Amino acid sequence: HGLPWLGWHRRYSRLMINLLDHLAAALGPGGVIIAPEDIAPFGTDWRGLVSNMPRAVLRPRDTAGVAAALRLCAAAGVPVVPQGGNTSMVAGAVPSRDGAELVLSLSRMNAVRAIDAAGLTMEVEAGVTLRAAQDAARDAGALLPLSIGSEGSAQIGGVISTNAGGNNTLRFGNARDLVLGLEVVLADGTIWNGLRRLRKDNTGYALRQLFAGAEGTLGIVTAAVLRLARAPRQRQTCFCAIPSVEAALDLFARFRDEDEAALYAFEYISGAAMAVNQSYMPDFRLPLETASPHYVLLELATTRRRDPLRETMEAVLADALEAGVITDAAIAESEAQRAAFWAIREHLSESQRRAGASVKNDVSVPVAAVPSLLARAAAMLGARHPGARMVAFGHIGDGNIHLNALQPEDGDAAAFAARGEDLMEDVNAIVMELGGSFSAEHGIGQIKTHAFGQLRSAAEREIMHRIRAALDPAATLNPGKLF
Ligand code: MLT
Ligand code: ZN
Repeated sequence: HGLPWLGWHRRYSRLMINLLDHLAAALGPGGVIIAPEDIAPFGTDWRGLVSNMPRAVLRPRDTAGVAAALRLCAAAGVPVVPQGGNTSMVAGAVPSRDGAELVLSLSRMNAVRAIDAAGLTMEVEAGVTLRAAQDAARDAGALLPLSIGSEGSAQIGGVISTNAGGNNTLRFGNARDLVLGLEVVLADGTIWNGLRRLRKDNTGYALRQLFAGAEGTLGIVTAAVLRLARAPRQRQTCFCAIPSVEAALDLFARFRDEDEAALYAFEYISGAAMAVNQSYMPDFRLPLETASPHYVLLELATTRRRDPLRETMEAVLADALEAGVITDAAIAESEAQRAAFWAIREHLSESQRRAGASVKNDVSVPVAAVPSLLARAAAMLGARHPGARMVAFGHIGDGNIHLNALQPEDGDAAAFAARGEDLMEDVNAIVMELGGSFSAEHGIGQIKTHAFGQLRSAAEREIMHRIRAALDPAATLNPGKLF
């Protein structure tokens, strides 16, 4: 089949050569990549925490190709790691052992199959990027109401498999809430076509919900039917300076009270997070006159033609200013300015990555407990991890804070990373006391498995083990993740 097996014997066993030969036949031209320089990017995660090279990268063109590949791999007992845009924050889409696994990339399955603008649904293949799906929905006059920082690269299959959250969760829910139908290939090659587009479908176990958020350990998502929303006719976006975290929640309550349905996003940025952005974001410009200890970026949107949202925005802000709940605010005057506001929010992760080693605590607590979470975490870090910089930001309207810790300035990255597990445990102890979750939206992957083992009950983990064992008894799908 044209693959250069000769001379590869030292890197590949006879079993692996046979398997790759069969896979090449099944997947056709370009379906199997083995050159080390070509497979290298598939072995390293976005954060650069894990580097485990796959044996080869499989690139099926269609669902039948995925099924054929999984059937062959299952027969050979070779593990498969599904990968979309490789933007996981917890190394969920790269191998967990070096040189032992195959990566199956969904990138070539990138068709938007259908959009029903009247019924407000779209059917897409797993390899469509979130942005391409958003654009297709917008071109049809609708809105795919899911927005995350990595949307330019993240692919629908991964977005669903990790139940991604992001900036509009507040209004429209997580990825799971947008999934009406799903197509999945199981470890043994069985194809389940559940691509229904019904608002109501009460027929036994909610399988589509089971695969959403399963991190590729139960099956590989190959296509989905997503719920869309009507495209908004009005949008107002505002950047606010806030004197305290309590004030951020006060402002949140005011907007919810005024027009809950119009509140599409309510994001928190600490002064420390903004400072990291200032140092590492190209062309950074604060949209306000002066720096503040806290900021909120919020967006109102509506499909209404009447009742100008601008008036709502200005009225609530004026009251808040008078009450001392905000100290300054800038409303976007153009689409370009709106994009500039959001660019500041979406660049926080990248800036922090450039600033050095980080421990990412993607935690959630009941919304009212957020001020207590931040105050207690700051005190704990000062006492137990001196020099560590708390870089907090996130989806405060959902009670989901990225309570990240950045290495000390001029400190040693490796030494900081070595104490990462301890720091994470200390943060998680506070989170658990407040009735929260140690992983609000990024999932478990291979970075949070320790916390998962410690903080979830034996009963909860046992239920998950049994589901996993029923669908993938040999545990060849995305091994080393979750469990
Ligand atoms: C974000 O909301 O920007 C990411 O989920 C957060 C992160 O980098 O921790
Ligand atoms: Zn986030």
